[in-house]
Amino acid sequence: PAQALIFDLDGVLTDTAQTHYRAWKRMADEEGLPFDQHVNEQLKGVDRMSSLEIILRHAGRTLSAEQKQALAERKNGYYVEAIAEVTPKDLFPGVARVLEQARARGLKLGLASASRNAAALLDRLGIAGRFDYIADAARIDRAKPAPDIFLDVAAALGVAPARCIGIEDAAAGVAAIKSAGMAAIGIGDATTLAQADACLADIAAFDVDAFVSP
Ligand code: G6P
Ligand code: MG
Repeated sequence: PAQALIFDLDGVLTDTAQTHYRAWKRMADEEGLPFDQHVNEQLKGVDRMSSLEIILRHAGRTLSAEQKQALAERKNGYYVEAIAEVTPKDLFPGVARVLEQARARGLKLGLASASRNAAALLDRLGIAGRFDYIADAARIDRAKPAPDIFLDVAAALGVAPARCIGIEDAAAGVAAIKSAGMAAIGIGDATTLAQADACLADIAAFDVDAFVSP
């Protein structure tokens, strides 16, 4: 049976996948870079600079390292500004119940977000204390879809990957979970997340008891 749940954050526990999108879109519009929700799908779960690279590649724009740094920082400024308004009310419905169900079953809880803003966001959401371990994205070598961040969390929790369930809204994240040798629950579109072992429309549809046999 599973012994740990490892959650992604943005787009799984709260709607910040959209907040990231709006921050990128604001920067892209200012720079005249074509960017839309379709391209954004490839950005989900991907780290900050790689996300900018995808936007630039799609726009056919080449920039210097300094220019890229400046654009990434500008986007992050917009994002940080937006999450300053976040409160526990912004948790997706069902999150508190899922965390309680997991705790009641004695499961370890980990967080595997690629975001350097994850700790601050968890604080704003009021759930930082619910996790046994929160990965520090700045200390992870290879970004999703590499398995590194999920393996880091499993090791910190002291649970074998085969006993972990990863929960992700991003294709890159589901790929990372599978490559870590874990079971994957996709949150969102089943076609986009075809690699997941199970796919749910949202976290509210996650019944921990149904997934974790006693
Ligand atoms: C998550 C989100 C991505 C975001 C990345 C880096 O993986 O899904 O959209 O680009 O984190 O976030 P950061 O806050 O470090 O720029
Ligand atoms: Mg996500």
